[in-house]
Amino acid sequence: MADTDDEHTSPQNPDNRIELERQAADKAHEAQIAAHPPEGPDGKPLHRPVGSTRVVRDRKGVRKVIEVPSTGHSWDGIEEYDNPLPRWWLWSFYATIVWGLFYLVAYPAIPLISGATKGLLGQNYRSDVAAEIQRFADANAPIQAKLVETPLDQIAADPELANYTANAGAAIFRTWCAQCHGSGAGGASGYPTLLDNDWLWGGTLDDIHTTIQHGIRDPKDEDTRYSEMPKFGADQLLDNTQIRQVVNYVLELGGKPHDAALAAEGATVFADNCTSCHGEDGTGDRSQGAPNLTDAVWLYGSDPATITRIVHDGPFGVMPAWNGRLSEADIRAVASYVHGLGGGE
Ligand code: HEC
Ligand code: HEC
Repeated sequence: MADTDDEHTSPQNPDNRIELERQAADKAHEAQIAAHPPEGPDGKPLHRPVGSTRVVRDRKGVRKVIEVPSTGHSWDGIEEYDNPLPRWWLWSFYATIVWGLFYLVAYPAIPLISGATKGLLGQNYRSDVAAEIQRFADANAPIQAKLVETPLDQIAADPELANYTANAGAAIFRTWCAQCHGSGAGGASGYPTLLDNDWLWGGTLDDIHTTIQHGIRDPKDEDTRYSEMPKFGADQLLDNTQIRQVVNYVLELGGKPHDAALAAEGATVFADNCTSCHGEDGTGDRSQGAPNLTDAVWLYGSDPATITRIVHDGPFGVMPAWNGRLSEADIRAVASYVHGLGGGE
């Protein structure tokens, strides 16, 4: 510690100069007060340095000037007086304590291992939320029942149902579908846009309803929409030359830049391997969810690398079944919403 003392108190350390000078000045000041003790108004010396004075009223309302004692703390000649706390402050302080105790007893407050103390008022925000949710569910129950009873093709004609499905369907879509299909249903690579009239599995309300209900290639749903494009490369059904040829043919079908000689060979490969699903002319087959390869809409991408990857590894896009996770009314609502997005048939 000797080092530390040196560092902070040694006169040799120039950094201590101001501090040491201040201490010396304080001492001199105290000595001066001791030599000439201050005098009161009556000329008699006060028994200690003058404190401050304060005006108070006693119980009868009589004004009195009293002297405020010093706490004895003094910094640089600035003294701390022992003034009482303002009454308004003190009462506010007591009030917060009383409120705190009341709250502790009346409301859930003290955390326990599982849950918290219940509180005498029986307030419970969880059950409040549950009750509020139930209130909305009850309010929506009649229209949801009506939605489930109405044949699909008549929903749009009923203004009340059309209004409900547009709002509820949009909310369901934002919650459950947007993460794959995009918040505006515009899709992404591998996730089809639901805004156009190019449908893999069909665009009538009935088709869309079935797709949502049972999903696509969802192994957990027996009635799921199913088809499987072979992994032509990975399973060695086609060699690399044949794949290059058929990819050029697909590019030709889609009106993209391609190698004409390879594409001519590819036409044969296509006829032998692809037409069973994508059709003689490549326009696809909705009963198998096989996309139209001749239009400008691509599920995965129209560049040669992507098409080569699809033909080599197979696509196998999966859309989860919503049966059981969403109520029938919710499935109908979101199906109607998707149908109404612009591409519905
Ligand atoms: C985990 C991702 C995912 C989620 C979540 C999802 N989908 Fe899909 N959806 C897909 C994929 C992938 C496809 C295309 C599958 C394929 O390759 O055939 C698809 C296809 C569809 C189709 C068929 C489109 C067509 O052209 O026939 C519809 C309709 C659809 N989804 C609606 C919905 C709705 C409504 C929801 C919300 C309730 C939803 N999807 C949630 C991934 C998803
Ligand atoms: C058994 C049916 C089937 C056969 C056979 C088949 N496909 Fe497919 N193909 C599909 C399905 C289904 C999809 C898209 C859905 C998925 O699986 O995600 C698809 C998707 C594609 C895509 C992606 C299209 C896009 O929009 O991104 C290309 C390209 C393609 N197939 C090319 C071929 C070629 C070339 C052949 C023949 C060598 C072939 N397919 C054979 C069913 C088939």
